[in-house]
Parts: sequence; C-alpha cells; structure tokens
Amino acid sequence: MNEVRDVFVLLSEDDRFRQTVKARLKAQDRELFHVGTLAEAMAEVRRAEPSLILLDMKISEVPALRAIGALRERAPRTPLVAVAENSSVKLAIEALRHGAVDFVSLDEPPSRWNEAVSRALQEATSSARVEQAREQVKDRYGFTHMLTQSPRMLDVFDQIRSVAQTDATVLILGETGTGKELITRAIHERSRRKDKPFIAVNCGAFTESLLESELFGHERGSFTGAVGRREGLFEMADGGTLFLDELGETSLNVQVNLLRVLEEMAFRRVGGRDQVRIDVRILAATNVHLGEAVSEGKFRSDLYYRLNVFPIRLPPLRERREDIPLLMRHFIDEIAEEYHLEPPVVSMDAMNTILEYHWPGNVRQLRAMCERWVIIRSGQRLEREHLPSDMTGIRTVEPSSGFYVEEGRPLVDSVERAIQQVERAYFARVLRRFGGQIEKTAEHAGISRRTLYTKMKSYGLDAEEFRGS
Ligand SMILES: Nc1ncnc2c1ncn2[C@@H]1O[C@H](COP(=O)(O)OP(=O)(O)OP(=O)(O)O)[C@@H](O)[C@H]1O
Ligand SMILES: [Mg+2]
Repeated sequence: MNEVRDVFVLLSEDDRFRQTVKARLKAQDRELFHVGTLAEAMAEVRRAEPSLILLDMKISEVPALRAIGALRERAPRTPLVAVAENSSVKLAIEALRHGAVDFVSLDEPPSRWNEAVSRALQEATSSARVEQAREQVKDRYGFTHMLTQSPRMLDVFDQIRSVAQTDATVLILGETGTGKELITRAIHERSRRKDKPFIAVNCGAFTESLLESELFGHERGSFTGAVGRREGLFEMADGGTLFLDELGETSLNVQVNLLRVLEEMAFRRVGGRDQVRIDVRILAATNVHLGEAVSEGKFRSDLYYRLNVFPIRLPPLRERREDIPLLMRHFIDEIAEEYHLEPPVVSMDAMNTILEYHWPGNVRQLRAMCERWVIIRSGQRLEREHLPSDMTGIRTVEPSSGFYVEEGRPLVDSVERAIQQVERAYFARVLRRFGGQIEKTAEHAGISRRTLYTKMKSYGLDAEEFRGS
C-alpha cells in the first residue's frame, strides 16, 4: 500500500524564505506547492486539498492576518501554520488569534518545526475529520455504527456490500475486538432479510447438550427437565439471519449437526422425529484460527470448507493504525457526552505512544481505554505518564519504592508549549466565531462557562476583543 503523501501549500513572496521553509520541512517527504499571491493560494487550496497551509507573515500583498482569515474561511478544515523570520510573541499571538493553529519562526530548531507540523496535522484528525469519515462510510455503505479511514477496512466494506444481498454463508475472521459482531449486523441490515429476525448465539457460552437444544429446540420430555416443546433459534430465525458467534468453541458433535442443517436447510428438534424446514442465512464468526483447529482435529474439515465460501478477514488495529486517532476522537467525544464530562486533550507524546502500542484487544480495548481516560483526565491533558505501563514501556525499578524509570524519551518541553498554543488558538477561534459570547462559546466547546473563564484567564483572552469582530 502506498503512503499518501502530505500536500502542503506555502504562500510566500520571497524565494529565499521558501527555500528555507522547504529545508526545514524536510519537504522530500511531502509535496510542497509554492504560491505567491492570496488568489493563487485560494485556488490551490481548492484544487489540491492540502493537508496544511503555511503562510509567510511578511507578505505585502495583503496584511498577513487578513490572509489567515481568508484562507481559514475558504478551507475551514485545513490547518494553517504561520511562519515568520524571527520569533515574536506578539505576532504569534496575533496569528493564533486569527485562526492559525501554530506559529513557527525560521530561527527555531527542526524539532520545533516537526512538532508544529504534526500538531497541525493532528488537528486535522479532529471532530471534523471524524464527521467526514462517518459520512463517507454512511453514504458509501450505509453503515452507521462503524468508523474507518483505513483502505483495508474500506475494502472489507466493499466485500460486505457485495455479499450482503446474497444468501451466501459468510465466515468472519479476526482477533478479539476487531468488530466482527458489528460486521454481521451490517450484513443483515443490508440484506433482503433486514425486516426479519437477526438472532445471535454465542456458541462458547453453552455446554454441548444445552447448545443443541438452544439451536434446534426440543420436544416435550426429550430430556429431564424438558417439560414442554421448545422452539430453537434456527426456527426463531426463520426467514432471517442466524449468527453463530465463537463458532470455534463448538464440539465436534455440534459441528456434525450444524453441517447437516447447512446442507439440507432442515433439522430435527432434540427428541423429535419430524424434519423442520427452514430458510435461514448463516453468518459465523471466530477468533480461533480455524485452519489450525482443523489440523489439530478440533474442527471438522467438512464444516470448515462449507463455511469458508466467503471468508472476511478483519485486520487487527495495529495493522490499520490510521484508524486509531479517528476512533479515539469518536470514543472520547461519545463517552464524554454520555458521562457529561469534558473530553481530555491528548498530548502529542501520548498520541505517539498510543499509536505505537500493539493493541491486542483491538477496538474494544481502545474504547475501554478511552473510557478510562475520559474519567481520569476529564477537561485536562492526557499525557504519556497517564498511560498504562505496558503501553509506555515504563518499568518499576523496585516494586515497593514507588519510583518509576522511563525507558522511552523524556517529554520535550516545547510540546507543552505547542499544546498550549493550539488550545489557546482553539478558544480564540470559537470566541471569534461567536462574537465573544461566553455562553455560546462554552456550549460549542462542550465545557462549562466556569472552565471557559479559567482557560481564557490563563491564556489572556478577553471576550471584549472578539465582540463585533
Ligand atoms: N470500526 C469500528 N467503529 C466503531 N466501533 C467499533 C469498530 N469496530 C469495533 N467497534 C467497537 O468495538 C467493540 C468490539 O467490537 P465487536 O464486539 O464487534 O468485536 P468482535 O470482533 O466481535 O470481538 P470478539 O471476538 O471478542 O467477540 C464494540 O464496542 C464495537 O462497537
Ligand atoms: Mg464478538
């Protein structure tokens, strides 16, 4: 799979300045479009849909601050970084106030430049991006519960779309927590059976005899305690879909009976003589490697081949890391709203660690982590130190001493600064949008008025300045 290269647009009238910026950005990894006028920048932004706009603060054509405003308006989802020859606090504040996500100067070290760029790009995986991905998945596939921007998952969605309308048996394979259950529901919802029952049975949760009676039902007196006749799940799902979850957990006996139903679309109730005919579509899922189970004699090969007509493999989260920031944003916002808490702001260092982790429990684990982070860091920053130790590689030196040694890099102190700038810029932007109205700004940002006041105070933001601007 080809990495999609980032496209940047740089607006500057000065050739030497452009060359320096290019060198600072290590532009070989990126496509950098140079433009010399605001009109060209506007056109390029529309044409190339860049992931970042860089603006030379000393352009003369229009006041730079005005250019920031115009570009932000044209491309509200594209982050803009203001660039100046020398650091200037006053200029930085002005730029951020007008909607730049960050401010860097040529005299700052490359690490600071990297940071500004990653920060700005991260800003792009914000709520707006989540919304965009959601809409795309919904428009293209009609799935409302699944979110992805991974080409491999979108490929899976394509497969689902084509198999959903048929009656083919689908076998969904994937590690725990990769979304197998969501996928089966999506298949049912997109099938002609969508108005008929969807019945899921967790095959791992029953003993052999109970599972048989669950699936096939039983006749009165067929075993001790079978006081009446009981309809099984196959009958209940008639006309609809039966989802056999954790199929790898079934016994060889149950497998024989399942194979017969699949072949004949008919079965007998436990203790019964008559054949019951049914029309059921079977979906099955497992996190067990069925091929291996077959060679170990734990899974019948005939059933395996019968089920393996249309296997769908869900990639683990670590093989589609681009989904991590997207899903995190989605879960954090969702959970924060549910608990009436303010979402935490994830620091870049924490995000990098989260991205590197191998996520054995996949999306389910990520969601659970997000829940924890919302609770422990509500309205605050989530730093690397708040992550569990198996994620950070932090190791206890002496279990009883309470001291921890960090194996990774130390926190770079300018990260702190970058984050504050971003946060400040965010509040300035929202304040401007609502003309300095506290109530509306707080509501939009999803925080209390009191928290907003505290933030404004610490960032030196004055509501007056945004009135009528
Ligand atoms: N792409 C996705 N977008 C949003 N939520 C997701 C996505 N994938 C999984 N989830 C969520 O992750 C959790 C686990 O998903 P699911 O139950 O479908 O996993 P599973 O593969 O069936 O796991 P197991 O093998 O353990 O049963 C659920 O809360 C589900 O809503
Ligand atoms: Mg499941």
